[in-house]
Amino acid sequence: MRPITKHILAAGVAAAALMGVNAASAQEVIKFAHVVAPNTPKGQGAEFFKKRAEEILGDKVKIEIYPNSQLFDDDKVLPAILRGDVQFGAPSLAKFGKWTKKLQVYDLPFLFKDMDAVSCFQNGEKGQELLNSMSGKGLTGVGYWHNGLKQLSANKPLRAPEDAAGLKFRIQSSDVIAAQFEAIDAVPQKMAFSETYSALQTGVVDGQENTWSNIYSKKFFEVQDYITESNHGLLDYMVVTSTKWWDGLDPEIRAGLTQAMNEASDYANGLSANLTAEQRQAVIDSGETEILSVSADDFAKWQTAMKPVWDEFSGDIGQDIIDAAAACN
Ligand code: LMR
Repeated sequence: MRPITKHILAAGVAAAALMGVNAASAQEVIKFAHVVAPNTPKGQGAEFFKKRAEEILGDKVKIEIYPNSQLFDDDKVLPAILRGDVQFGAPSLAKFGKWTKKLQVYDLPFLFKDMDAVSCFQNGEKGQELLNSMSGKGLTGVGYWHNGLKQLSANKPLRAPEDAAGLKFRIQSSDVIAAQFEAIDAVPQKMAFSETYSALQTGVVDGQENTWSNIYSKKFFEVQDYITESNHGLLDYMVVTSTKWWDGLDPEIRAGLTQAMNEASDYANGLSANLTAEQRQAVIDSGETEILSVSADDFAKWQTAMKPVWDEFSGDIGQDIIDAAAACN
């Protein structure tokens, strides 16, 4: 082989390695990073995606899953996707505020009465349009995955909104969620998911809001004396990738990944209700925390106290989007 050809080949292999492609087999190495444990709807959805993509596409792809914030916290994963350091992430819908204001709809308190209403909106016209709401920023949404409705927890019983006044709550990086806590005179503190357990344990914050699955799998219940079953908001995910990388894929690979992703979305969304019920029960059975159910009167008080947040964000989100979501109840 002439040296020049050798050099060109070596440069090609190096470039391919940088791009995550193994030149010897032309295998596409695809990284999927997320922040939760494997025994959660998102963790299971990611594993299912890997299994199906590798079954459908064989050696053409290798999917690597990095759970538990091993690679990136959610605020770092979207820039990492744009750089090509990782190909898929699935941040909670609360974490896209810097990229689009429209997805803030999902954080409005008491917007969805149950997960069927969430599915109705996500599968409907407006929900599907929102998958493309970041195309101008180079990100494409390829699916929604459920986690579930959020519960409030603290080291004192939160029965009515006034019980939360003055308490510090760890929140996801969402201005809507910050406004929601300010509406009940509490103090929101944005913080990475990976730091939440120790912030609760050391008393840096007094409480937090999350789904049963996250409260169970990250053991927040061990460091919170009370959980109020408030179901006051949603925590779901958008699986995202780089538009440039996705559009540049070999069409056969893109088709296989699309099929695997659609199947994984169905799988994760079908699993979340059972996992939520199981993990809620496991928290109750642990005996480590007291579960407070919310009477109809108190539920109305929480709703009234938090609802003004809707008006504050309707301009940014778009009233048409809010109306379409509310119509699913
Ligand atoms: C959180 O930060 O509480 C959640 O977004 C974590 C997750 O991915 O479910």
